[in-house]
Amino acid sequence: MRNRIYLCLAHMSGNEMQYIKEAFDTNWVVPLGPNVNGFEEDLKGFAGADREVVALASGTSAVHLALIACGVGPGDEVMVQSFTFCASSHPVRYLGATPVFVDSEPDSWNMDPDLLDKAIADRIAVTGRKPKAIIPVALYGMPYRIDRIMEIAAKYDIPVIEDAAEGFGSRWEGRVLGTFGKFGVLSFNGNKMITTSGGGALVCEDKAAKDKILWYATQAREGYPYYQHEAIGYNYRLSNVCAGIGRGQMTVLDEHIAHHKHVQALYEELLADIPGIKVHKAPDARFDSNFWLCTITLDPGLKVKGQENAYASAVTKAIGGAAGVIHATGSAHTDCEPNANVEAMRAFLDAAQVEARPVWKPMHKQPVYKESPAYVNGVSEGIFKVGMCLPAGPLVTDDDIRYIVSTIKSAIAD
Ligand SMILES: Cc1ncc(COP(=O)(O)O)c(C=O)c1O
Repeated sequence: MRNRIYLCLAHMSGNEMQYIKEAFDTNWVVPLGPNVNGFEEDLKGFAGADREVVALASGTSAVHLALIACGVGPGDEVMVQSFTFCASSHPVRYLGATPVFVDSEPDSWNMDPDLLDKAIADRIAVTGRKPKAIIPVALYGMPYRIDRIMEIAAKYDIPVIEDAAEGFGSRWEGRVLGTFGKFGVLSFNGNKMITTSGGGALVCEDKAAKDKILWYATQAREGYPYYQHEAIGYNYRLSNVCAGIGRGQMTVLDEHIAHHKHVQALYEELLADIPGIKVHKAPDARFDSNFWLCTITLDPGLKVKGQENAYASAVTKAIGGAAGVIHATGSAHTDCEPNANVEAMRAFLDAAQVEARPVWKPMHKQPVYKESPAYVNGVSEGIFKVGMCLPAGPLVTDDDIRYIVSTIKSAIAD
């Protein structure tokens, strides 16, 4: 039996152990220390622009602290790309604020700048107040149109928090994502471009911004010999042990990016002549994606074996997701789900030991956000119904890709 091929598994191929050993040998096993400092320096070096970086416990905590630093509080609104993982918008709700969802453009799959512009104007007209931040998301690594988004942000004077959790190493016109806005969010979860097992970082504009984030991330302690607190803080720093993994991973980041791009190119080549299947590509040369995951779309007319029974039973185990925890449900259906041929393809690949999963379900279609305003054009909902993610991580070989493509071909009904 073939080994299972996962979407994106961590690969410890740098000198992670050396840094972890140093942490143990020197007893720096706390959420500060030489590895944390070294990792932040490495990240700052990679960002290239004149930025500072704070290493944090997760990408989600980075979104949370960026929102706090932008002054988001109860009753505020934040413009968030709807087509994303929930961690882009959940922290808005942690703060008692409301995410206002903005749909995507068809070519990049990311925030539609024209719709964003209209949505902000409308929010100001409806509420009499400006949204407090704008969060575009680099979906599966693909850059957002940051030139247009920054223009619109400047027009309304609203800060941008780039969610580049999936886009570490992606570039827009040569410049690293996360370095354009007021803040840039990175994730080093176990399935990302590099990992610290779990972790994240916030790219900040300057030292003062970094210091403020650091302060919030360490329980907002005032400068007294005893513990004095005048604001609510969080325990969001990255462990020095995990930062050691990150330092080791930084030595192989370029290799990882090159590998993901190679995987994408091979899928593009091998899937090119299969009618009814399209690989999602960069719209033009300005969009330099890391291709964290390869994504395809299935024509609704494509017949896939088993699609008649695609949603015959409720899901009982997790489809993707690091922790694999799901809340069991009695129903196999929701009012917005991938087409039956997409689910049949996922199940066919799963049975052949290939992990594939639907693209993110847009936040404006999630029951938990049913009260949130949304400015939609049908793009993300349309892609959700036809889209699918394929394995692309550092352990995925050319032979795996050939196997995945031949499995896809054999799943197609005559
Ligand atoms: C778009 C996006 N934003 C934020 C996050 C949150 O990152 P983390 O899992 O490190 O909290 C993730 C990934 O997990 C993500 O995909």
